[in-house]
Amino acid sequence: MITRRNLLGRIGATGGAGAVASAMQTLGMFGVAQAAPLPELPGSYGKGRHVVVLGAGIAGLVSAYELEQAGFKVTLLEARPRVGGRAWTVRNGDKIEMIGEATQTAKFSEGVYFNAGPARLPSFHQGILGYARKFNVPLEVEVNSSRSAYIAQAGGSRIKMRAAINDTRGYLSELLAKAINQGSLDQAVTAEEKLKLVPFLRAYGDLDEKFEFKGTARSGFGTPPGAGVSSFETPIKPVPFDTLLANPQLPMTLFEDAMYMQATMFQPVGGMDQISVGIERSLKSRAVRNAEVKRIRQSAKGVEIVYVDRPSGASHTVTGDYIVCTIPFPVLAGIDCDFPAETSTAIAGVVYDASNKVAFEAPRFWEREQIYGGISFVGGDTSLIWYPSAGLHSERGMILGTYTSGAKALAFQTKSIAEQIAAARAAIDMVHPGHGVDCVDPLVVNWRKVPYSLGPWPAWGGIPTGPQEGHNDSAAYRLLCQPSGRVVFASAALSQTPGWQEGAVQSAHAAVALIATQVAERALTEPTLRAAA
Ligand code: ALA
Repeated sequence: MITRRNLLGRIGATGGAGAVASAMQTLGMFGVAQAAPLPELPGSYGKGRHVVVLGAGIAGLVSAYELEQAGFKVTLLEARPRVGGRAWTVRNGDKIEMIGEATQTAKFSEGVYFNAGPARLPSFHQGILGYARKFNVPLEVEVNSSRSAYIAQAGGSRIKMRAAINDTRGYLSELLAKAINQGSLDQAVTAEEKLKLVPFLRAYGDLDEKFEFKGTARSGFGTPPGAGVSSFETPIKPVPFDTLLANPQLPMTLFEDAMYMQATMFQPVGGMDQISVGIERSLKSRAVRNAEVKRIRQSAKGVEIVYVDRPSGASHTVTGDYIVCTIPFPVLAGIDCDFPAETSTAIAGVVYDASNKVAFEAPRFWEREQIYGGISFVGGDTSLIWYPSAGLHSERGMILGTYTSGAKALAFQTKSIAEQIAAARAAIDMVHPGHGVDCVDPLVVNWRKVPYSLGPWPAWGGIPTGPQEGHNDSAAYRLLCQPSGRVVFASAALSQTPGWQEGAVQSAHAAVALIATQVAERALTEPTLRAAA
């Protein structure tokens, strides 16, 4: 039986102490905290070995970069004419092709762009932010939440976010303070706690001396302060409590409290694709573009990939030692592969979510309402209006009139493109009356119809109504997190955050660790290979 220890001994005999150390690292024997972090491999570790990476999205680019750093020869194949995968920035003249729909061509003014996929990076996503830092990709703040935006409902009230937040807090504080003062909570609150809690609630809710909420300057001004003595500031009237409670978007006042949806997030200057571009710039060999994979084979000796160069239709064959496969599972399910039946069944069974975005170009009418970035929540089948954080005070900008996922998105994408645009424009018009007509040159992305993606991210638990992050775990998920022979899968799909670039980085690191482990293990049976290292 091969134990880890005698494995290391035998690697030591053929490859020396450095080989042992690196093998220990790859086998996770250096007390690493996570399941599969990026191993620290010597630059000669992969010498003599060739990895073919399929797909130049974030997972593929990061895998390719880190494998090259560890001395592997890497061939990176990408079906699209660009790198980045879902991290797709649409600029003037770019085409949006979707299965079953007419091709759309972006008509944007100078400097205007649309992040059709990821559009924000939270501060705790240090993996992807780390690559942005490493490759000098300039970042700027993405205003993800603005108190100047609205919660709105069709046929109902439109409430400024700051009023919704602060007035709700005021009414709740009043209720709680009254309940405490009347002794209703004596079972739950001690006399000592009461002494501290009541003054806190007065400050928290901005209550008057009778512990009543009469409105707060935190919610804005009635009229703002001016110069001289004829323009004193006047107070704003609070939104009635029942109006607040009647607005189904009221819980969205908590949006920015979600760890993933911080009030200020980050975006690369000029478009999300700049991180992918930055990683590719640092590769020894660029991605082979327009290379559509048609066939994947493996044997005890290595791997063989057949791809077609899309413009010419010419077929090419690449051979190598390993594959890192980042092809989305619904796409991979349609490719001729020789995976074991269990793996093929798992791949074919991964259900992808739906997600839609509808973008317009418009004069920046929202800035005249003091909205500089952030999101208005409108509910319905378009969900939200997302304002641009970049190019403030320039003439025109991109306004997003729809961003949805889950069951709502699955239904919405069955509408015609014209109907989707009309719905998004109507939602903008509801929140910004009269401005629907200002929203022109629309673009629709239904991710399930996007070739080479066929969905935004997997819905491991079925099409969800809630967030896609969390606890992804199933027999298929676990199987696909393991190598299938010489093929290692890497994708945000195989992380706990399938809809985030961070998940792709984490999965790529895990894939590099799995390849490194295979190399260490094969050193036993293929000592000549090891000697080359
Ligand atoms: N990561 C995706 C978002 O920012 C889901 O909305």
